[in-house]
Amino acid sequence: MGARNREAQRVLIRRSAIEKRVKAVARKITRDYKGQRVHLIGVLKGACFFLADLAREIDLETSIDFISVASYGKGRDSSGQVRLLKDLDTSIAGLNVILVEDILDTGRTLLYLLRILRQRKPKSLRVAALLDKPSRRVVPVKGDYVGFTIPNEFVVGYGLDFAERYRNLKDVCVFAPSSDQPQ
Ligand code: PRP
Repeated sequence: MGARNREAQRVLIRRSAIEKRVKAVARKITRDYKGQRVHLIGVLKGACFFLADLAREIDLETSIDFISVASYGKGRDSSGQVRLLKDLDTSIAGLNVILVEDILDTGRTLLYLLRILRQRKPKSLRVAALLDKPSRRVVPVKGDYVGFTIPNEFVVGYGLDFAERYRNLKDVCVFAPSSDQPQ
C-alpha cells in the first residue's frame, strides 16, 4: 500500500482473493442464466469497480446501466430514508436484472431499490453484492450472489470510500484513521 493510502492500514481481502471470487460469482451467474441475457445495474458509486470486473467475466449477452441513490444518515439509528439521485437510462421491463452492489449494510438502500425496480416489471430481479455485513442488517434483505461475508468493520477500497477517498485501492482494507493526517 503506497503513501497515498497511509490511513487505510489493514488489508482485509487481497486483490487476488477478490479476483478469484468475482470469477466464481460470474461463473455461477453464467450457469444460472444459461442462454439468456442479463442486465446489470450498478449502484453508484461504490459498485462501479465490482460491476466492471464482474461484467467482463460473465459469459452471456450482457447489458449495463447505473442508478444512484443517497440516504439521510447511514447509522443503524438514523432515519435511513433513501432518495433517488440518478435514475436508469433505459427500461428494464422483461429483462433479467441483476442489481450490483459493493456492500450490503443495513439493507435500507437495497430494500428501496428492490421496491422501485420491481414496479418496473423486470422478468427477474436478483442481487449481487461483493461484500455483506449481515450483523448490521435492520431490514430483511439478502444478496443472491455474495462475494464475501465480513464482520462489522469499516472497510474501504475496491469501490468503497471514506469521504470519497480510497475507492481506488485494489484490496479491501479495514479503515484505520490516524489523527495526524490531513482529511
Ligand atoms: C453504500 C453502498 C450501498 C449502501 C449500503 O453506498 O454502496 O449502496 O451504502 O448501505 P445500507 O445497506 O445501509 O443501505 P453509499 O451511500 O456509501 O454511496 P457510495 O456507493 O457512493 O459510496
